[in-house]
Amino acid sequence: MIYPIVIYGSPMLRKVSEKIAKEYNNLDVLIKDMFETMEVSDGVGLAAPQIGKSIRLFVIDANPMAEDDPSLEGFKKAFINPKIIEQTGDKWGFSEGCLSLPEIREEVERPAKIRIQYYDEDFNFYDETYDGIKARIIQHEYDHLDGVLFVDHLSPLKKKLLKGKLNNIAKGKVAAAYSTKIIK
Ligand code: CO
Repeated sequence: MIYPIVIYGSPMLRKVSEKIAKEYNNLDVLIKDMFETMEVSDGVGLAAPQIGKSIRLFVIDANPMAEDDPSLEGFKKAFINPKIIEQTGDKWGFSEGCLSLPEIREEVERPAKIRIQYYDEDFNFYDETYDGIKARIIQHEYDHLDGVLFVDHLSPLKKKLLKGKLNNIAKGKVAAAYSTKIIK
């Protein structure tokens, strides 16, 4: 099933999501649907709040970016109840986008390296470190679980310049190639 993407202006995207248990109803189907929704929307990451579920789960498939960065080949994973326990290294900037913020791309500064603990779709536990684009995508998706969007990391001036675009998205004036919705 393909879900519409919940976009900016929806209070849902500002909530802190809840942890889930292994017994969460139809978790395997949900994860499959999230991968499918991400793929048809041309995203490399999708967090559960973006499909209207306030739970601590996101999926990543960075294979479409592997042409530019071969280290991303095969980086396809579900992260359940993740916890970033360390962010280290110098911050660096990279142009980010988000399915919930159609048509907006901005350079976002994030720490270079993270250590994260999480469970996969079979509830196997992992404790791993990531750097490069992988660390960036994970941090972006992780933010969604805490109600944070990439535009929150921009300078006050950049935010001001984006205000018009953001207001349009919140009014539903979006030209996205995938289906979107605002949940009030
Ligand atoms: Co996003």
